Amino acid sequence: MRVLSGIQPSGTLHIGNYLGMMRQMIELQAEHELFCFIADLHAMTSLNRGAELRANTLKAALDFLALGIDPAKSVFWVQSTVPEINELTWYLSNVTPVGLLERCHSYKDKLAKGLPANAGLLNYPLLMAADILAVQSDIVPVGKDQKQHLEVTRDIAIKFNNEFGETFQVPDALIKDAVAIVPGTDGQKMSKSYGNTIDIFGEEKTIRKQVMGIVTDSTPLEQPKDPDKCNVFKIYALFAAPEQKAEMERKYRAGGFGYGDAKKETFALLREYFRPYRERRAELAKDPAEVQRVLQKGTEKARAEICKTLQLVREKTGAAAFCGDSQ
Ligand code: ADP
Ligand code: TRP
Repeated sequence: MRVLSGIQPSGTLHIGNYLGMMRQMIELQAEHELFCFIADLHAMTSLNRGAELRANTLKAALDFLALGIDPAKSVFWVQSTVPEINELTWYLSNVTPVGLLERCHSYKDKLAKGLPANAGLLNYPLLMAADILAVQSDIVPVGKDQKQHLEVTRDIAIKFNNEFGETFQVPDALIKDAVAIVPGTDGQKMSKSYGNTIDIFGEEKTIRKQVMGIVTDSTPLEQPKDPDKCNVFKIYALFAAPEQKAEMERKYRAGGFGYGDAKKETFALLREYFRPYRERRAELAKDPAEVQRVLQKGTEKARAEICKTLQLVREKTGAAAFCGDSQ
């Protein structure tokens, strides 16, 4: 099976990104042909400072490599380094009803938040469809918030196949129920844009502050507490071993155990969980030129695959472009 997913380098990656998408990808690479990329073109819809985007892109690449993406097994690259993706976006745009894009929740949410209604924002799912269809992906691991974008991708693939003949594999989303929506420190979905995240690789004091800032109710320390209604417990449970989870549950119900205590244990658990990855990341960060080389190799591999699809699409659509030097 061919598996593909991407992540926007629009800020510091958080434990929602890790559980919702990154960990699945890393696990799947053992048995599948994996394509993983940093979606810098997508991030441009929300970031207009070039230097910041470039720095975030490198940070996201380091994060993924440290967490276990293995460039020897998988194809790992930065989206904008394969320009044929933009070309495919154009071909796909001609079979994409504007209404399909206008109906996307994420587009409507972004407008509601005050982002300008430009074509980039509207075409965001179209570019995402190009990413997915370009490598003929079977499976796309994502968090629940991307479900609709996958439905749009399937619609576009089916429409193109109907109009031009069998061209694209129609992909399926892979959404893990247990971690479909990781709660943020305020109880809403954890998201870079809500300022409610817990970083994967932040400074110790930043992460401590984020964990200690998790919103709880005001049940006094001595009283028993319901773990299922508590954000701290929900986050703890996502990383705890079954016996750790059961023990924490017992302490909540027994009383005499405050939210402050639960937060301290959650902080310690997270630090310990990510410790080996943090060490590996620090090693990788010492040699950014090597990271660049890894990404460049990934670009070559991704481009070769993407160009195969593009060649097919050009033949079907009648476009006469040819695909640079990677063919
Ligand atoms: P953000 O909302 O922080 O900007 P992205 O939209 O860049 O995150 O999401 C990157 C990946 O991480 C996607 O597959 C998305 O579904 C997943 N993801 C993001 N936030 C969460 C969350 N709170 N719970 C589960 N998965 C998430
Ligand atoms: N839109 C996705 C997100 O915000 C990122 C993304 C871009 C993506 N292209 C993709 C995810 C292709 C899966 C497949 O999370």
